[in-house]
Amino acid sequence: MSTRLAEVPEEILAVNLVDTKAYLENDMGAYWRRLRDEHPLYWHEPVGETPGFWVVSRYAEVMKLYRDDKRLTSEKGNVLVTLLAGGDSAAGQMMAVTDGKRHKDLRNVMLRAFSPRALAKVNELVRANTRDLLARTIRKGTGDFVKDVASVIPLTTIGNLLGVPPADNAELLELTKASLSSDEPDQAPEEAWVARNEILLYFSDLVAERRANPQDDVLTTLTQSEVDGEPLSDQDIVFNCYSLILGGDETSRLTMVETIYTLTRELEQWRRLRAGEVDLETATEEFLRWASPAMNFGRRALVDFEVAGGQVKADDIVTLWNVSANRDERVFERPDVLDLSRSPNKHVTFGYGPHFCLGAFLARVELREMLDALRSFTTGFELTGEPRRIHSNLMQGMSYLPVRFTPDEAGLAGEGR
Ligand code: HEM
Repeated sequence: MSTRLAEVPEEILAVNLVDTKAYLENDMGAYWRRLRDEHPLYWHEPVGETPGFWVVSRYAEVMKLYRDDKRLTSEKGNVLVTLLAGGDSAAGQMMAVTDGKRHKDLRNVMLRAFSPRALAKVNELVRANTRDLLARTIRKGTGDFVKDVASVIPLTTIGNLLGVPPADNAELLELTKASLSSDEPDQAPEEAWVARNEILLYFSDLVAERRANPQDDVLTTLTQSEVDGEPLSDQDIVFNCYSLILGGDETSRLTMVETIYTLTRELEQWRRLRAGEVDLETATEEFLRWASPAMNFGRRALVDFEVAGGQVKADDIVTLWNVSANRDERVFERPDVLDLSRSPNKHVTFGYGPHFCLGAFLARVELREMLDALRSFTTGFELTGEPRRIHSNLMQGMSYLPVRFTPDEAGLAGEGR
């Protein structure tokens, strides 16, 4: 049943999903459970100047709408901030905010960049890099896991795939963080826009450089690719590089951090992982479901249609909540229990349908390698202070996680210093 204002209880109305603080101040697990049970298509009223939008919380409808690129478009934005602002300036150029044939063509070009050959190279690098970083971090004992490990791996991986000089990674990381979410509760939206433009400028320079001096990297492949007989423009390339960085950095980082945090609390699951009682594959999938770093994505309706017993009108904003779908008790048995051997585990963490995450394979490799290194190099770990949560209405997770590792000397013996 769809619900408008009059039928919705006060506690639900009190949660403003646009406000980044809402996620830190409310029991969101209870909120989502109630929406799934009572208001699976819920109309979030406008707040001040901010327009209203539909909130879809059950797994079945989230999947159905992700798949539906006939009645829903991504070209007017695919995240709350752009949908609410009325559109995305990269529409029709950046894959995630492009529909139809142009999207398919761009995606095919980008998929070539993710060819087995390119990925095999990156896989090796992820493994070596992860083992090296974790070995050093664990030997050091205490530190901030975000800064020491989780910030470094995803960005290095994508940077390496694209052909970003390693010396530029730190600067790109700062810009990426500023453009998506913030450590500060009241970050001005302009700061995000500035950071976003700086990333685009950075890639414009790099594209010009690769056109002049081709290398064996994805950026060079893109400069040599065509869509419909036309070479990709600089702007096409820049937007899509940007989308790889944005799509692949913070999401993977937050998942790794949530994984470590969770393992400090779920000691039995840590024991099972370390003892080899659970597969790395099922453990990886469960941490992806558990962390759900991208809480939601969204679309705009192209036509009137019915869903979850309610009526969506053309031009309405429709938001799909992965974070709720991944805890839907209609699909997942005991969804609030972490079970590293959970199977099946068809979570919606990477979306679904035509825009299904292009980097899912890489993200899985990164997380699996981290789990593998972790279980070999440390006997256990604990928090040494309060973690800090990010402020965002798109992503969830932590920006600071102080931990102390106990080294497993036997496991570390083979790793270089
Ligand atoms: C799309 C999540 C890692 C690149 C998506 C979508 C989701 C998602 C939910 C669908 C968006 C939509 O339907 O509008 C995640 C999560 C990740 C992750 C949770 C890590 C845990 C990565 C990585 C890369 C990447 C590592 C790149 C190397 C992309 C791109 C798209 C996308 C380019 C757009 C695909 C398209 O529109 O066809 N991601 N992602 N992601 N992701 Fe990821």
